Amino acid sequence: MGRPLKIINVVGARPNLPKIAPLMREMRRHPEIEPILVHTGQHYDERLSDVFFRQMGIPAPDVNLEVGSGSHAAQTAEVLKRVEPVLIEYKPDIVIVVGDVNSTIAVSLAAVKLGIRVAHVEAGLRSFDRTMPEEINRILTDAIADLLFVTEEDAITHLLTEGRPRSAIHLVGNVMIDSVRHFLPIAQKSSIGAELGLVDSQSWRRFAVLTLHRPSNVDSVEKLTELMSTIEAVANELPVIFPVHPRTKQRLAESGAIPSPRLRLIDPLGYLDFLCLLSKATLALTDSGGIQEETTALGVPCLTLRENTERPITISQGTNLLVGTDPAQIISAVRDILAGNSKAGRIPPLWDGKAAERIVEILLRPVPSEKAW
Ligand code: UD1
Repeated sequence: MGRPLKIINVVGARPNLPKIAPLMREMRRHPEIEPILVHTGQHYDERLSDVFFRQMGIPAPDVNLEVGSGSHAAQTAEVLKRVEPVLIEYKPDIVIVVGDVNSTIAVSLAAVKLGIRVAHVEAGLRSFDRTMPEEINRILTDAIADLLFVTEEDAITHLLTEGRPRSAIHLVGNVMIDSVRHFLPIAQKSSIGAELGLVDSQSWRRFAVLTLHRPSNVDSVEKLTELMSTIEAVANELPVIFPVHPRTKQRLAESGAIPSPRLRLIDPLGYLDFLCLLSKATLALTDSGGIQEETTALGVPCLTLRENTERPITISQGTNLLVGTDPAQIISAVRDILAGNSKAGRIPPLWDGKAAERIVEILLRPVPSEKAW
């Protein structure tokens, strides 16, 4: 056996962690791979980062760049600057980036300029909304990555339209769903339901889970205030549990709004508690990308509080409904679900818990030519 394939796996923000966990687990089963983990430090709080490492058994990062928060330019630039010497020191054969956060594009750019191959996991998703910072990160990362792992068929079309070669694109399924499947039995043992008073003599009451953190929803005081008053109307129908993201917490404090006690505002939850709640929820209200996919995998109705989604398969096949931010539309969709008229979904092809296995199998294939897979 020659020397192992050296792979740097990159995480930056919370949603990257359930995507990297199954990849690291799978790579560690292969002695012919040497996995290295780099954390950019884009998210650094115990509740947004450390708890995920512990609960998902992700090994401690080999390197933490500790970039922290900042403007988009500052944060991206800081990752670029700090990751370059790490890439030069470790000389990986491949760098794996996931998702669409600032760390994703920054590390990809540093790597390709050093002639290191980049693989993008969750490539090709497009909302076609260029005001979303993540859309810019997605387009740019896909333009320079060598290997593109996609979760759904539409992504292939987008990448081909943007001129990426078919040979670089692989439909492998969804690593985030690998984590849902792997951790759900453990998550079911969480005591979060009892702690929040959602469990009566062993059976769960009806409740909704809400998450909100997109700049387009929370950065304008008017928008956030309107959304919060709509959510209060939803809370008249059923209890709403709202784990508040730090960005949203700051904006709520700045807006001076005092949310009604019917809304249960709580700190961000760890992965297992959140997965437990989501799996038992009557419905989810969210502007997150990952939660649209997780609810589809769990068969839980999801109302997405956005005008668009980069994950259309959750609508065409899953339980997701785009409701935007119009109060009447949101409340009527909630009432429909409570009346038993929720959308029946099915699990998209290859969302079977084996995406990481497929990715690792492809990574281990001999490289056909100098740079193209
Ligand atoms: C980032 C990602 C977004 C992802 C989200 C998940 C980008 C462009 N955005 O957005 O795609 O959906 O993570 O959470 O990469 N903060 C803390 N503790 C932390 C990190 C941040 O309190 O550990 C606070 C800081 O005040 C910071 C604010 O949260 O200014 C926002 O964090 P930031 O990383 O800029 O973006 P997110 O909104 O978290």
